Amino acid sequence: MTAKKPPMGWNSWNTFGEHINEKLIMEMADQLVNDGYKDAGYEYVIIDDCWSLKERVDGKLVPDPKLFPSGMKALSDYIHSKGLKFGMYSCAGTKTCAGYPSSYGHEFEDARQFAEWGVDYLKYDFCNFPVSGDAKNAYLTMAMALRHTGRDILFAACNWGKYDPSGWMRSRGAHTYRSTGDIFDVPRSYQDIFKQQVENIEGNAPGCYNDLDMLIVGMHGKGNVGIGGCSDEQYLQHFAMWAFLTSPLIIGADIRSIDGSNKATLLNKGLIAINQDGECCPAFLIENVGDKHYTLGKILSGNRVAIGFFNIGEPTEGPCHMSICFDDLGIHSESGLFLKITDAITGEELGTFQDAYTAVLRGCQSQVVIAELVKPEK
Ligand code: GLA
Repeated sequence: MTAKKPPMGWNSWNTFGEHINEKLIMEMADQLVNDGYKDAGYEYVIIDDCWSLKERVDGKLVPDPKLFPSGMKALSDYIHSKGLKFGMYSCAGTKTCAGYPSSYGHEFEDARQFAEWGVDYLKYDFCNFPVSGDAKNAYLTMAMALRHTGRDILFAACNWGKYDPSGWMRSRGAHTYRSTGDIFDVPRSYQDIFKQQVENIEGNAPGCYNDLDMLIVGMHGKGNVGIGGCSDEQYLQHFAMWAFLTSPLIIGADIRSIDGSNKATLLNKGLIAINQDGECCPAFLIENVGDKHYTLGKILSGNRVAIGFFNIGEPTEGPCHMSICFDDLGIHSESGLFLKITDAITGEELGTFQDAYTAVLRGCQSQVVIAELVKPEK
């Protein structure tokens, strides 16, 4: 099955935009392997928009020879030789979002071309779509075209939720779909995406996930979607949210120069384990107080449930008590069960609790805990 778990990888757009080339992509592949990202689960190396010539040649998409002189097959072979997978980008419209040729009306030949290059993941955007076109059918056509190649290609659809209030992307063959707008490297952006997504979180399941967009962790205002950057605490909150909401985890920062604290965030074992949990249950909202204090639950495999406390108030906001009553997790006191709670981010064991648990968080802080159901010791 494709996309048994949310895909993890690196994508060129957030930091590099149109400034991409084969050397850069190869360096990112090296870095994923040498710096522990591959071992942590990041496996797709994805080239976003701006990789081709501005026009088709003999009806085909052609990689810009100045940027990719060795060609896509050679780059794909290099990525595969590292034990990684290769992702590329096209669009459902007549031009990509940055104005390059795109796959509308060329779905079957482009899919064949991607398969010949050894592509394992196709991000499929939604700009410049003909007014007379049928969006659902266009995604369905590319989904069928990819399947027809006989190659296992993850279909990462993207139309920012605008045309997808009912989640039709899943039924048209998408393995992930961008359900919200583009991310920018400011706290407001990841927090707004989180708020929008919380309204629509229950559609995730193995085989198709809501994609909250590429991560901005560690960008610090540099690059293509960089504005002011975020604090390290905010980047951790952003990562914890994406992990908790079962979103794909696609790094957008330059991992050759990322600082230690944000690298540690991207490699946080506890959060990645929640994201990649075998059951892939979607999260559910337990409480939203004033669109600032959010408490979420997420059933995990085994005898466990994750609880996420996210305070998205201003960083200056003083400590706030965020409590969860175990009734809200379906565990009533008559069950006689206790919850053994571990901090998922730090690994610290926080103790055994009977009826409730309280996290104390300042603005922009989060706590994610794993609660295991246990019988009290006699
Ligand atoms: C859209 C997408 C982005 C990126 C750009 C490329 O805006 O949402 O993620 O792929 O196009 O032009």
